[in-house]
Amino acid sequence: MGLRKWLFAASYDRLTGPAEKWLAPYRQRTAGQTRGHTLEIAAGTGANLPFYPEEVSITIVEPNPHMARRLEHKARALGREVTVLPHAGESLPFPDATFDSVVTTLVLCSVQDLKASLRVVRRVIKPVGGFFFYKHVAAQGGWTLRFQNWIGPFWKFFWRWLSPAPRYRVGHSRSQIQPR
Ligand SMILES: C[S@@+](CC[C@H](N)C(=O)[O-])C[C@H]1O[C@@H](n2cnc3c(N)ncnc32)[C@H](O)[C@@H]1O
Repeated sequence: MGLRKWLFAASYDRLTGPAEKWLAPYRQRTAGQTRGHTLEIAAGTGANLPFYPEEVSITIVEPNPHMARRLEHKARALGREVTVLPHAGESLPFPDATFDSVVTTLVLCSVQDLKASLRVVRRVIKPVGGFFFYKHVAAQGGWTLRFQNWIGPFWKFFWRWLSPAPRYRVGHSRSQIQPR
Protein backbone atom coordinates (compact mmCIF):
# COMPACT_ATOMS: atom_id res chain seq x y z
CA MET A 1 0.00 0.00 0.00
CA GLY A 2 2.82 2.40 0.93
CA LEU A 3 4.64 1.51 -2.28
CA ARG A 4 1.52 2.17 -4.35
CA LYS A 5 1.07 5.55 -2.70
CA TRP A 6 4.66 6.40 -3.49
CA LEU A 7 4.30 5.15 -7.07
CA PHE A 8 1.10 7.11 -7.55
CA ALA A 9 2.71 10.32 -6.29
CA ALA A 10 5.89 9.74 -8.30
CA SER A 11 4.06 9.16 -11.57
CA TYR A 12 1.10 11.52 -11.18
CA ASP A 13 2.53 14.59 -12.90
CA ARG A 14 3.90 12.52 -15.76
CA LEU A 15 0.54 10.80 -16.25
CA THR A 16 -1.60 13.91 -16.10
CA GLY A 17 0.95 16.24 -17.70
CA PRO A 18 -0.28 15.65 -21.26
CA ALA A 19 -3.86 16.41 -20.14
CA GLU A 20 -3.04 19.56 -18.16
CA LYS A 21 -3.51 21.84 -21.16
CA TRP A 22 -7.02 20.48 -21.46
CA LEU A 23 -7.60 20.55 -17.68
CA ALA A 24 -6.39 24.14 -17.20
CA PRO A 25 -9.76 25.82 -18.00
CA TYR A 26 -11.42 23.61 -15.38
CA ARG A 27 -8.75 24.45 -12.82
CA GLN A 28 -9.31 28.11 -13.63
CA ARG A 29 -13.08 27.72 -13.19
CA THR A 30 -12.64 26.07 -9.78
CA ALA A 31 -9.44 27.06 -7.92
CA GLY A 32 -9.26 30.26 -9.96
CA GLN A 33 -12.66 31.44 -8.65
CA THR A 34 -11.95 31.03 -4.94
CA ARG A 35 -11.73 33.81 -2.38
CA GLY A 36 -10.79 34.28 1.25
CA HIS A 37 -9.88 31.35 3.46
CA THR A 38 -9.85 28.37 1.10
CA LEU A 39 -9.69 24.63 1.73
CA GLU A 40 -8.55 22.22 -0.98
CA ILE A 41 -9.40 18.59 -0.32
CA ALA A 42 -6.95 16.07 -1.83
CA ALA A 43 -4.67 18.44 -3.71
CA GLY A 44 -2.39 15.66 -4.98
CA THR A 45 0.88 17.14 -6.22
CA GLY A 46 -0.60 20.66 -6.23
CA ALA A 47 -1.77 21.05 -9.83
CA ASN A 48 -4.29 23.72 -8.76
CA LEU A 49 -1.75 25.88 -6.93
CA PRO A 50 -0.86 28.15 -9.89
CA PHE A 51 -4.56 28.95 -10.38
CA TYR A 52 -5.42 30.36 -6.94
CA PRO A 53 -5.83 34.13 -6.79
CA GLU A 54 -2.92 35.74 -4.93
CA GLU A 55 -4.99 37.04 -2.01
CA VAL A 56 -6.45 33.63 -1.16
CA SER A 57 -5.10 31.81 1.90
CA ILE A 58 -4.83 28.09 1.21
CA THR A 59 -5.29 25.13 3.56
CA ILE A 60 -4.89 21.67 2.05
CA VAL A 61 -5.77 18.19 3.26
CA GLU A 62 -3.90 15.41 1.45
CA PRO A 63 -3.63 11.97 3.07
CA ASN A 64 -0.87 10.62 0.80
CA PRO A 65 2.41 11.87 2.39
CA HIS A 66 4.32 11.47 -0.90
CA MET A 67 1.80 13.70 -2.68
CA ALA A 68 1.96 16.16 0.22
CA ARG A 69 5.75 16.43 -0.04
CA ARG A 70 5.52 17.17 -3.76
CA LEU A 71 2.84 19.79 -3.37
CA GLU A 72 4.81 21.53 -0.59
CA HIS A 73 7.76 21.65 -2.94
CA LYS A 74 5.56 23.08 -5.72
CA ALA A 75 4.13 25.70 -3.35
CA ARG A 76 7.65 26.81 -2.35
CA ALA A 77 8.66 27.07 -6.02
CA LEU A 78 5.58 29.24 -6.66
CA GLY A 79 6.20 31.34 -3.56
CA ARG A 80 2.80 30.34 -2.11
CA GLU A 81 2.28 29.77 1.59
CA VAL A 82 0.11 26.72 2.19
CA THR A 83 -0.89 24.77 5.27
CA VAL A 84 -0.88 21.04 4.46
CA LEU A 85 -2.61 18.56 6.79
CA PRO A 86 -2.66 14.75 6.41
CA HIS A 87 -6.41 14.26 6.81
CA ALA A 88 -8.90 12.38 4.63
CA GLY A 89 -11.82 14.25 3.11
CA GLU A 90 -14.34 12.32 5.20
CA SER A 91 -13.01 13.54 8.55
CA LEU A 92 -11.95 17.15 8.52
CA PRO A 93 -10.86 18.55 11.88
CA PHE A 94 -12.11 22.11 11.28
CA PRO A 95 -14.91 23.88 13.15
CA ASP A 96 -18.20 24.50 11.34
CA ALA A 97 -18.30 27.38 8.83
CA THR A 98 -14.51 27.86 8.70
CA PHE A 99 -13.93 28.38 4.96
CA ASP A 100 -15.07 30.89 2.35
CA SER A 101 -14.29 28.42 -0.44
CA VAL A 102 -13.77 24.65 -0.69
CA VAL A 103 -12.13 23.09 -3.77
CA THR A 104 -11.78 19.49 -4.83
CA THR A 105 -10.81 18.36 -8.32
CA LEU A 106 -10.55 14.86 -9.78
CA VAL A 107 -11.25 13.37 -6.36
CA LEU A 108 -14.91 12.65 -5.69
CA CYS A 109 -14.94 9.22 -7.38
CA SER A 110 -12.18 7.94 -5.13
CA VAL A 111 -13.25 8.97 -1.63
CA GLN A 112 -14.42 6.04 0.51
CA ASP A 113 -17.76 7.64 1.31
CA LEU A 114 -19.02 10.30 -1.10
CA LYS A 115 -22.03 11.34 0.98
CA ALA A 116 -19.95 11.68 4.14
CA SER A 117 -17.40 13.79 2.24
CA LEU A 118 -20.07 16.13 0.90
CA ARG A 119 -21.65 16.44 4.34
CA VAL A 120 -18.27 17.46 5.74
CA VAL A 121 -17.81 20.03 2.95
CA ARG A 122 -21.20 21.48 3.81
CA ARG A 123 -20.27 21.65 7.48
CA VAL A 124 -16.92 23.43 7.12
CA ILE A 125 -18.00 25.93 4.47
CA LYS A 126 -19.47 29.29 5.52
CA PRO A 127 -23.18 29.85 4.71
CA VAL A 128 -22.20 32.27 1.95
CA GLY A 129 -19.17 30.21 0.86
CA GLY A 130 -18.57 28.51 -2.48
CA PHE A 131 -17.89 24.84 -3.28
CA PHE A 132 -15.83 24.41 -6.45
CA PHE A 133 -15.33 20.93 -7.90
CA TYR A 134 -15.00 19.02 -11.12
CA LYS A 135 -14.78 15.34 -11.96
CA HIS A 136 -14.66 13.18 -15.04
CA VAL A 137 -17.71 10.95 -15.41
CA ALA A 138 -18.67 7.91 -17.40
CA ALA A 139 -19.76 8.53 -20.98
CA GLN A 140 -23.44 8.00 -21.75
CA GLY A 141 -22.66 5.18 -24.15
CA GLY A 142 -20.82 4.27 -27.32
CA TRP A 143 -17.13 3.65 -27.77
CA THR A 144 -16.05 6.07 -25.04
CA LEU A 145 -18.01 4.15 -22.41
CA ARG A 146 -16.73 0.84 -23.76
CA PHE A 147 -13.20 2.16 -23.53
CA GLN A 148 -13.81 3.39 -19.96
CA ASN A 149 -15.21 -0.01 -18.98
CA TRP A 150 -12.24 -1.72 -20.58
CA ILE A 151 -9.60 0.48 -19.01
CA GLY A 152 -11.29 0.68 -15.57
CA PRO A 153 -9.84 -2.55 -14.14
CA PHE A 154 -6.34 -1.59 -15.32
CA TRP A 155 -6.61 1.75 -13.55
CA LYS A 156 -7.84 -0.07 -10.48
CA PHE A 157 -4.93 -2.46 -10.60
CA PHE A 158 -2.37 0.32 -10.88
CA TRP A 159 -3.86 2.97 -8.64
CA ARG A 160 -6.05 0.83 -6.43
CA TRP A 161 -8.42 3.58 -5.43
CA LEU A 162 -9.58 4.20 -9.03
CA SER A 163 -12.72 2.11 -9.46
CA PRO A 164 -13.98 0.59 -12.70
CA ALA A 165 -16.20 2.77 -14.86
CA PRO A 166 -19.47 0.93 -14.06
CA ARG A 167 -19.21 2.12 -10.48
CA TYR A 168 -18.75 5.71 -11.65
CA ARG A 169 -21.85 5.42 -13.81
CA VAL A 170 -24.06 4.21 -10.95
CA GLY A 171 -22.59 6.67 -8.46
CA HIS A 172 -22.96 9.68 -10.68
CA SER A 173 -26.45 8.90 -11.89
CA ARG A 174 -27.68 8.67 -8.29
CA SER A 175 -25.79 11.60 -6.81
CA GLN A 176 -27.51 14.93 -6.36
CA ILE A 177 -26.04 18.04 -4.85
CA GLN A 178 -28.51 20.56 -3.53
CA PRO A 179 -27.26 24.14 -3.69
CA ARG A 180 -28.16 26.20 -0.64
C1 LIG B 1 -6.49 12.00 -8.94
S1 LIG B 1 -5.68 12.77 -7.59
C2 LIG B 1 -6.24 14.42 -7.82
C3 LIG B 1 -5.19 15.40 -7.40
C4 LIG B 1 -5.55 16.86 -7.65
N1 LIG B 1 -6.76 17.23 -6.94
C5 LIG B 1 -5.68 17.20 -9.10
O1 LIG B 1 -6.66 17.81 -9.50
O2 LIG B 1 -4.74 16.89 -9.86
C6 LIG B 1 -6.64 12.23 -6.22
C7 LIG B 1 -6.06 12.63 -4.86
O3 LIG B 1 -7.03 12.29 -3.86
C8 LIG B 1 -6.35 11.84 -2.71
N2 LIG B 1 -7.34 11.07 -1.95
C9 LIG B 1 -7.80 9.82 -2.19
N3 LIG B 1 -8.73 9.48 -1.29
C10 LIG B 1 -8.87 10.54 -0.45
C11 LIG B 1 -9.69 10.79 0.68
N4 LIG B 1 -10.53 9.89 1.15
N5 LIG B 1 -9.56 12.00 1.30
C12 LIG B 1 -8.73 12.93 0.82
N6 LIG B 1 -7.93 12.74 -0.25
C13 LIG B 1 -8.00 11.56 -0.87
C14 LIG B 1 -5.17 11.06 -3.25
O4 LIG B 1 -4.14 10.96 -2.29
C15 LIG B 1 -4.79 11.92 -4.46
O5 LIG B 1 -3.83 12.88 -4.09
